[in-house]
Amino acid sequence: MLARAVTHAVVGLEPRRVEVEADVHETGLPAFAIVGLPDRACAEARTRVRSGIVSAELDFPRGRVTVNLAPAGLRKEGSGYDLPIALALLAASRQIPQGELSRHAAVGELALDGRLRRVGGVLAVAEGARRLGLERLLCPPESAPEAALAGVRPVPVAHLAEAVAYLRGELDPEAVEPPPEPEPAALPDLAEVRGQERARRALEIAAAGRQNLLFAGPPGTGKTMLARRLPSLLPPLDDAAALEVTRIHSVAGLLAPEQPLVRTPPFRAPHHSASTSAIVGGGPGIRPGEASLAHHGVLLLDELAEFARPALEALRQPLEDGVVSIARAAGRAVFPARFQLVATMNLCPCGARGDGSAICSCTAQRLASYRAKLSRALLDRFDLVVAVPRPRAAELAAEPSESSAAVAERVALARSRLASAPLRRTSDADALLSRAVDRLPLSGRGRARVARTARTIAALAGGEEVHAEHVAEALAYRSPQELA
Ligand SMILES: Nc1ncnc2c1ncn2[C@@H]1O[C@H](COP(=O)(O)OP(=O)(O)O)[C@@H](O)[C@H]1O
Ligand SMILES: [Mg+2]
Ligand SMILES: [Zn+2]
Repeated sequence: MLARAVTHAVVGLEPRRVEVEADVHETGLPAFAIVGLPDRACAEARTRVRSGIVSAELDFPRGRVTVNLAPAGLRKEGSGYDLPIALALLAASRQIPQGELSRHAAVGELALDGRLRRVGGVLAVAEGARRLGLERLLCPPESAPEAALAGVRPVPVAHLAEAVAYLRGELDPEAVEPPPEPEPAALPDLAEVRGQERARRALEIAAAGRQNLLFAGPPGTGKTMLARRLPSLLPPLDDAAALEVTRIHSVAGLLAPEQPLVRTPPFRAPHHSASTSAIVGGGPGIRPGEASLAHHGVLLLDELAEFARPALEALRQPLEDGVVSIARAAGRAVFPARFQLVATMNLCPCGARGDGSAICSCTAQRLASYRAKLSRALLDRFDLVVAVPRPRAAELAAEPSESSAAVAERVALARSRLASAPLRRTSDADALLSRAVDRLPLSGRGRARVARTARTIAALAGGEEVHAEHVAEALAYRSPQELA
């Protein structure tokens, strides 16, 4: 007898319908095969499903059992197929009604004792189910709040036996309400950073204009400390952005079950030893990388010059287009990656450059290869390049600085001005920008970036126009001598 269950594969972030067909020939020789391009984790469902069915005190079908995952051309990755495979087998052996199963989609990994485990990508699977007009999704309890975000009714089942009882009409698991909005987490505060007024100002501009920022200077001056405080200045994500970020984090399996909707802008800080595919995405299974996990948020590259050059160069596409596209034999996936880049670096390998009280011991050759790591093209993507000098003793002893909350208020105001007012340049501002293009010189991209920074500065100032002084301040952050 043939039976079917419906689930979805997730390709990139997109759900693709997958039919799980189970065929049981009771008279055939005992065998259990899964066909339809399963990867290793998916093929191992044979062991988990057999054990799970037995643990649920149900009968594993006798004879020859074949499971086909259709369409066969689409690679099936991971363990989320366990539950639909088990349910299709149970329907094929008449232990649950096919009619009831057909009204549901299912996803989840089975433990050997029949309990259900959470898998990544349930939001996309649930979106697929909703598009098919299926009202309900059988899933592990931890995945239920995430599934509810897609507008389907999750049926949380902790054990295969519960799923079976429910489909037999013996159990009515209460529907899960859409999860409550998450509480914003406590973030490190800008008040802890003493002095460094210029760097703080740049951080405020970067927050308001979502602009890329590089802190350069000797070690121990607070560069990392400052960069890690950028998230505390950013407004929460709006509904559309929150759902986009949640989709990406769902596929990566990063959602917290108790607060699946990501409301705070993501903050990602990969280690400098991270591979290119860890940073931009890809690898087996086409996973989103740090650039996509930082979508609508901040990507911090701490100690920029320590990162492998190919990884840095691979960031140029997302920095320009806001997407990462990955083409592989298994298919092509496009992940959004509109992040704000913040980076820190020393001015030389020994760190002494830029420090008045130390002497650089780097050879010219070592210095040259350090600089060569960072291409002009990459440096050109930083709107704001800021020297962070060693603070004077008086600065460190000063009163605590302004708090993140106070700065965040100005940032939010500037954001709303940028969204509503045209903020055109005065003729003086225009003339200054044109002169700078020749004198610096400034590339076309550089000019556009300075113009944007100037607009952000004008919005922070609360005026209606972009004045020459705003352009002048923006230009000061592009000064290449910071890195000379
Ligand atoms: N401006 C500052 N205000 C307060 N503490 C600072 C400042 N600069 C450095 N520190 C202290 O020094 C430590 C190292 O700072 P860090 O941000 O890691 O330096 P960097 O990244 O520039 O090497 C911090 O954890 C902090 O305790
Ligand atoms: Mg540091
Ligand atoms: Zn040095």
